[in-house]
Amino acid sequence: MPSDFAVFLGQMMRRPTEVVAIAPSSNAVARRMTEGLDRIQGPIVEIGPGTGSFTKAILERGVAPERLTLMEMNPVFCETLRQKFPGVTVLNRPAQEIEQIGLTGIGAVISGVPVLARPQIQREVVGRALRVMAAKGEFVQITYSPGAPISDQMQAELGVSVEKRATVWANLPPARVFVFRRIQH
Ligand SMILES: C[S@@+](CC[C@H](N)C(=O)[O-])C[C@H]1O[C@@H](n2cnc3c(N)ncnc32)[C@H](O)[C@@H]1O
Repeated sequence: MPSDFAVFLGQMMRRPTEVVAIAPSSNAVARRMTEGLDRIQGPIVEIGPGTGSFTKAILERGVAPERLTLMEMNPVFCETLRQKFPGVTVLNRPAQEIEQIGLTGIGAVISGVPVLARPQIQREVVGRALRVMAAKGEFVQITYSPGAPISDQMQAELGVSVEKRATVWANLPPARVFVFRRIQH
């Protein structure tokens, strides 16, 4: 079987606007992306899993495979994910369709989907996810930007607060982890 890096690089060259990164995320980022998942109730959805760096870490947090659904638009990555993670639901569908997969009360969304400077994708991916998440659910987003990947204006439009959880230097390139939560009224 080719290495994750080889599969990732191959797909990055074929579909650069979707894959965006040059290598799978490091274990250090995966640990910060999945922090606290052991305390979260309900289904967990990972969007844009690629070759599964975060998937592996989610399962290592003790999440049962049956609770985890992956939404990945690249069919080559989906095939890799199915082989590596038996028992996990792998959907070859865009994250924009999260309202149509039959899940509600989602406890956490772990996102590798590139949202930075893409307002339409922010509305379609983050906005729609919030509608099927539990009231106190967490949307965890990786970005390479030092600041929040969604603007203050977009935060207001979506009704979310944004917390910076981590900067991880041990990644190529260095990564940041942000958490979006619905503002409670
Ligand atoms: C930067 S890579 C991250 C991969 C993996 N999470 C990691 O950190 O190694 C972005 C991933 O998101 C996927 N992707 C991009 N847009 C997507 C969308 N709208 N819905 C689902 N997956 C998407 C790409 O195919 C790719 O696997």
